[in-house]
Amino acid sequence: MKTFTMPGTEITAPAVVLGLMRIVEKTDDEIRALVSAARDAGIDFFDHADLYGPPYHGCERRFAEALQLTPSEREAVTIQSKCGIRQPGPYFDFSYEHIIESVNASLEALGTDYLDILLLHRPDALMEPDEVARAFDELHHAGKVKNFGVSNHTPNQIELLKRSVKQPLVANQIQLSVTHSPVIASAIASNMLDLDQSIDRDNGIVDYCRLNDITIQAWSPFQARFFDGPFLGNEKYAELNAVIDKLAWKYEVPVEAIATAWITRHPAQMQVVLGTTTPARVEAAAKGADIHLSRAEWYEMFRAAGHTVP
Ligand SMILES: NC(=O)c1ccc[n+]([C@@H]2O[C@H](COP(=O)([O-])OP(=O)(O)OC[C@H]3O[C@@H](n4cnc5c(N)ncnc54)[C@H](OP(=O)(O)O)[C@@H]3O)[C@@H](O)[C@H]2O)c1
Repeated sequence: MKTFTMPGTEITAPAVVLGLMRIVEKTDDEIRALVSAARDAGIDFFDHADLYGPPYHGCERRFAEALQLTPSEREAVTIQSKCGIRQPGPYFDFSYEHIIESVNASLEALGTDYLDILLLHRPDALMEPDEVARAFDELHHAGKVKNFGVSNHTPNQIELLKRSVKQPLVANQIQLSVTHSPVIASAIASNMLDLDQSIDRDNGIVDYCRLNDITIQAWSPFQARFFDGPFLGNEKYAELNAVIDKLAWKYEVPVEAIATAWITRHPAQMQVVLGTTTPARVEAAAKGADIHLSRAEWYEMFRAAGHTVP
């Protein structure tokens, strides 16, 4: 498994991360098998959120119940969680009270004293940077959160936070797969009047994160669009699947590895956040981190996914 020192942290981070959003109804044995497949593949970094359940903190709690980590086992892994999305609603809440309350409940559900990373889940239109900073300072000084980051944020939203927040914002988790890649597609088709792909939906978030040493984490790396099922084996993406099959044969890996490799090949040193609950798929996807697709192969997948290379 390819690893790197996550800028702004002391974390040795794997290029592939296991997301636990879909485990709430899994048995202890199923969760143990999933995590064990991840650990065997070199994945020691786990992504949670207060929201994942239902109920709130449900997936965090199931993870802790199934694994019963000893203190030394806890120290050997990286646990990241998120806050800021409220249900019922939904609405977004970056208030001091909610951030503190959510982290305390995450720690209780996870059975741990600290989060390695806390992300603000989705931008809150009513965000007050000073309030966020106060919550982060308190959590940091209490040793409850070691590092902070964001998710689904634009460059200006991060800049606004940075005016008040003292700690480095080390990660931005955004939706990215070869079929859902506006963050990459718009930037390579700038200034094309008749091309919808040219519309910049995020103000250049990939370049901004590279310039500011913020690690991009790609969520839903196998989903065709927004939670509408994977593109692998999907007849709507026949051309893409033909290219993936060809590359899987060439590199002698499962197709999931090629989907992963398309993201890890990007020089921004992105992390892929897997959401599968199938141990064999974790093993298959993890293999992609060690494949270095050629430029021609990377762009062939991109075109076959329906994007324009103008
Ligand atoms: N920051 C955010 O706003 C945000 C939003 C959404 C998710 N996330 C994070 O990102 C993680 C991943 O999200 P996701 O679950 O949507 O990602 P995903 O890895 O793209 O999708 C996983 C889903 O696809 C299914 N699947 C079917 N065939 C597959 C195949 N061949 N390979 C892989 N998966 C296949 C899996 O089913 P099986 O389980 O049956 O294998 C599972 O239901 C979440 O766990 C969460 O940690 C973050």
